[in-house]
Amino acid sequence: MTDISLRRNKVAIVGAGSVGATLAYASLIRGVAHDVVLYDMAKAKVEAEVLDLRHGLQFCPPADVDGSDDVAICANADVIAITAGAKQKPGQTRLELAGINVDICRKLIPALLDVAPDAVIVMVTNPVDVLTYAALKFSGLPKNRVLGSGTVLDSARLRQVIARKLNVASQSVHAFIAGEHGDSEFPLWSSASIGTVPVLDFAAPDGTTLDEEQEAQIAHDVVNAAYSIILGKGATNYAVGLAGARVLEAILRDENGVLPVSSLLDGFHGITDVCLSLPSLVNKSGVASMLDVPLSDREVEQLKASAAEVKSVQASLGL
Ligand code: 2OP
Repeated sequence: MTDISLRRNKVAIVGAGSVGATLAYASLIRGVAHDVVLYDMAKAKVEAEVLDLRHGLQFCPPADVDGSDDVAICANADVIAITAGAKQKPGQTRLELAGINVDICRKLIPALLDVAPDAVIVMVTNPVDVLTYAALKFSGLPKNRVLGSGTVLDSARLRQVIARKLNVASQSVHAFIAGEHGDSEFPLWSSASIGTVPVLDFAAPDGTTLDEEQEAQIAHDVVNAAYSIILGKGATNYAVGLAGARVLEAILRDENGVLPVSSLLDGFHGITDVCLSLPSLVNKSGVASMLDVPLSDREVEQLKASAAEVKSVQASLGL
């Protein structure tokens, strides 16, 4: 049997746009994989991104980076992260990208599985929940092997806002955004804590606390964070790159880490046939399981509303 410590692992990133290139950069800096490859139809762009990344390898944990406009570059990847597709224009919702990006996914998935039949697929392209569901259908893979970056990024945004307000490290804020990675997402306030103290009971050393009104404002700001960034610089890339790299790392290191990735709901609170984010165990099999998180009545309603929103887009596309 091959000694796992001697086996090189490989991440293939599809799409060398700002999200794909930043995901590659974050993956190299974090030492996520031995081999990081970029695949994009735009030959000059992908080759330029690869050269630029390669010139920085000296400053990263040992790894190699390559790229091509030929899908064969993805051969035998352990994980494929898909970032290819149209991106939001200012004011456009993620769901408005569904039609065009589902068509791209329909063509990509079979070609990728031809060269990397054992890969776990991580969808990053928006609307990520619809695309994760589409990838699951187009691939025919078991549900654990297709997941979306989901609300890992939104949960990081939530933690960072709470952390700044209460003057604690964001790593000490345990809080998740659940549901759609999009306008119907919502914080799981009922289980959010600072250390072990429920967020609503926590008082910072200077006496600062959060009340329900502030919680509503925080939720609003997190849901709308991407719109402000897109207005200012045309796209988001750094935080989504880091969040995506964190998901790849949890898979490749077989971590059983808890991350709010998007995956198929199969009866959770009666919800089926839709991919949404809930805290889930992530390991080398992909999504090992979704946690049976306690939800308040309001959170159950919010999850159902999110499911209805995403499902209506799926239905309009015949998925
Ligand atoms: C983000 O939330 C646009 O989905 C992207 O940054």
